[in-house]
Amino acid sequence: MRQPLVAGNWKMHGTRAGINDLVTGIKQGMTAGITAEVALCPPFVYVTDTGRMLADSSIALGAQNLCAERGEGAYTGEVSGAMLKDAGCTFVIVGHSERRALYGEGDALVAKKFFAALAAGLTPILCVGELLGERERGDTEAVVARQLDAVLLQEGGVAGLAQAVIAYEPVWAIGTGRTATPEQAQEVHAYIRGRVAEHDRAVADKLRILYGGSVKANNAPELFAMADIDGGLIGGASLDAGQFVAICRAAS
Ligand code: 13P
Repeated sequence: MRQPLVAGNWKMHGTRAGINDLVTGIKQGMTAGITAEVALCPPFVYVTDTGRMLADSSIALGAQNLCAERGEGAYTGEVSGAMLKDAGCTFVIVGHSERRALYGEGDALVAKKFFAALAAGLTPILCVGELLGERERGDTEAVVARQLDAVLLQEGGVAGLAQAVIAYEPVWAIGTGRTATPEQAQEVHAYIRGRVAEHDRAVADKLRILYGGSVKANNAPELFAMADIDGGLIGGASLDAGQFVAICRAAS
């Protein structure tokens, strides 16, 4: 049995005051019925504050990005995996489509970040997903395979995935209110699991594959009911305590 995971990706949203209210609301909602693992990924500057607020809860802390370089060094503006670990993070998102599209992160850099996260003792949440045009051309599997293989085919890739989480986020469903149907998502999730299983069936069986892309309280139950969907990576709805808690409940 894979324990579902629901991770909130706040992206570049929030203020200290707003985050205080949001985290308070989410903590209040974490009642006994919620058995899914829950994580919050604030912007870097709020990681420590958020971690302090989560200290008396079972909610895990994550970050949205990390530097591909390990250790310390002259990398102005960057944050290392070791720093995130030191600040209390368990998870870190790597290869989010917004980082790929807006900040030029390619498969090789994403893979480097993935292994840097593992080296720091963090659990990477590796994001994959196709653009609308790629889906319309029938290239969804090819794109997801390329993004996955960038990690999977490296030395230590399969062992790395045993310590990681994958998030399938069709880019056309992110922030658009247009969700993949449960069947569309399940198809890609099963494909990802199958591709990992070609290398190691046990790792594939244990691998948590999250769906992301306009998950809301009202569509979460049908998405999470699918056999290969093990929770969600939640953007917009993670900024609303009521919505987010309802999504966590749907995953439990
Ligand atoms: P939305 O839930 O706002 O569509 O964002 C999804 C996402 O990108 C999470 O990483």
